[in-house]
Amino acid sequence: MPSRRSFLQTSLLAAGATALPKVRAATTPSGARVASTWDFGVPANAAAWTVLGKGGSALDAVEAGARWAETGQCNSTVGRCGYPDRDGYVTLDACIMDGDGRCGSVAAIEDIDHPISVARRVMEKTPHVMLVGDGARQFAISEGFKAQSLRTPEAEKAWREWLKTAQYKPEINIEQRKLPGNKENHDTIGMLAIDANGHMAGACTTSGMAWKMHGRVGDSPIIGAGLYVDNDVGGATASGVGEEMIRNVGSFLVVELMRQGHSPADACREAIARVVHKRPEASKELQVCFLAMNKQGEVGAFALHKGFSYAVCDSGKQDALLSSQAIYTTEKY
Ligand code: GLY
Repeated sequence: MPSRRSFLQTSLLAAGATALPKVRAATTPSGARVASTWDFGVPANAAAWTVLGKGGSALDAVEAGARWAETGQCNSTVGRCGYPDRDGYVTLDACIMDGDGRCGSVAAIEDIDHPISVARRVMEKTPHVMLVGDGARQFAISEGFKAQSLRTPEAEKAWREWLKTAQYKPEINIEQRKLPGNKENHDTIGMLAIDANGHMAGACTTSGMAWKMHGRVGDSPIIGAGLYVDNDVGGATASGVGEEMIRNVGSFLVVELMRQGHSPADACREAIARVVHKRPEASKELQVCFLAMNKQGEVGAFALHKGFSYAVCDSGKQDALLSSQAIYTTEKY
């Protein structure tokens, strides 16, 4: 019986032996490309591509893609259909970042269905990076956003069902497994784009973990944890249990690893290995996923556990959906 450490080393070696599927180069001179986390990254990329495909900016593209994820679908982990916290409040987190270091963020915002656009307004219209809670809500209303309850009947029903046991335990990739009841409790859309001018941007938006403590903020609105973009190097974004990304400043770590010469996939794998090294026991039960794009537009991803998908869209391919490799390679599901 191998020890956990030797199993992990073996798994890491095995994972390193096979390269991730390489995204082929864009077939037009533009080189524009967008990549997003999870299966819903495919339609979100399509929304972003309505901007990028016309020569629009990476920043406008990621906002458009994230907006689609927030209201164009009904998903229990992002936007207006997000599941509430344990007290029944739907609180949303989002951030946006440009490759030149401009960034904006909102956390624990209520009643506003496009937190990504509020984050952009924070970036563009305030001297700050981050607004939280009622301050973020008031700012959004002052900017013309409509306040409305985001708690859907489905979310309310799921919450009342959860209250019967009120047990809180992150589970891995439930959305991917499509179990009855759709009890997904960690999943986020993170999006990275490069435009025809070679400028990069990223966006990240989520309702966070279902049944979280009221006031809990995950990685998604934290610049450096859920998202980081640097035009000199590339960008990275994260999904999964946000506390691990915050502990390791995960997206910044991935970008810095690319700065040191790692490919996007290798940088993501190194960052996941760091998460495991810090909390080996907890890592058996948590999902952590990174997606990265370098300034050449090369895309890579890696996850702690099997089941993480990501979508890539460029002028040659509009709906590519790929599965990332994982450090824990056992067939768990
Ligand atoms: N990654 C999303 C969250 O933990 O809130």
